[in-house]
Amino acid sequence: MSHFPETRLRRLRRTKALRALVQETHFDGGDLIYPLFVTEGRSTKKEIPSMPGNYHFSVDRLPEEVDEIVRLGLPGVLLFGIPEDKDEMGSGAYDPEGVIQRAVREIKKTAPDLMVITDICLCEYTSHGHCGAVVDGTVDNDATLELLAKTALSHARAGADIVAPSDMMDGRVGAIRKALDANGFSLVPILSYAAKYASAFYGPFREAAQSAPQFGDRRSYQMNPTNWREALREVEQDVAEGADIVMVKPALAYLDVLQRVRERVLCPLAAYNVSGEFAMVKAAAKNGWISETQVVMEILTAIKRAGADIIITYHAKDAVRWLRGR
Ligand code: PBG
Repeated sequence: MSHFPETRLRRLRRTKALRALVQETHFDGGDLIYPLFVTEGRSTKKEIPSMPGNYHFSVDRLPEEVDEIVRLGLPGVLLFGIPEDKDEMGSGAYDPEGVIQRAVREIKKTAPDLMVITDICLCEYTSHGHCGAVVDGTVDNDATLELLAKTALSHARAGADIVAPSDMMDGRVGAIRKALDANGFSLVPILSYAAKYASAFYGPFREAAQSAPQFGDRRSYQMNPTNWREALREVEQDVAEGADIVMVKPALAYLDVLQRVRERVLCPLAAYNVSGEFAMVKAAAKNGWISETQVVMEILTAIKRAGADIIITYHAKDAVRWLRGR
């Protein structure tokens, strides 16, 4: 071990060129996925109050947004649907003419090369707001699997490039894989929200997606924030069931989990920089308390440093604009 004064770590920080030479984490925005909220209706582009710069789009307003996303050089979008009608079984989720199914077809027409990832969950479509079928007052795991598989299949039929289950039912990756394979979609990958925590950071999203549970909470299916070993079990189980990419969500308060998953599995790893994380940055920046550009870059770099290959973030458009001067 060499010590001060022979060793001076500041030597390699002296100039911009030296710092660039020894930079360990590189981040160019090429692995950012931008979430989009799609609603029923026509000519709608309505800003989400708690998520400035993010909107509800009706299907007919998607092409202009998608053109911009392609022009900015983002590789893909993650779609969330807000249906007109909700029911007990969330049937809007697997309706071939549902809002997401139409959105996927529209986006694929406009931008065939833009990756379309669809969120597979029932909470936006159920009247009770839970992520699965409610039987005797609880979310019934096995009864939900078939509905999720039907949803994933209908998204694949519409042209989705990747399906992303976010419900946290046990066995859903296997059920979705089986349904896709049996129907000619063996090449559609599954990005599983493998370690998804019951987090208060989803607040703005639930308002945006009108998906807050009408009774109780999600703690009987989403993970307890106190646990990291359980996250590894979730990830291992999803990989065993056929997940192609696994995700940790939220990102910032869970970077330790992200790093541990990175050390444990070889498949690509995604992190979801969620709505509450985004809203906090926006609110502080609006008050002039932080520099938005610098804070966003620092956050996204930190998520990469912890081990994420892919970042899903509402900052995606801004970040590539700043990085590439577009
Ligand atoms: C649906 C879903 C949620 C998010 C993504 N998919 C909300 C939830 O689980 O309540 C949260 C995304 C965000 O906060 O940005 N199950």
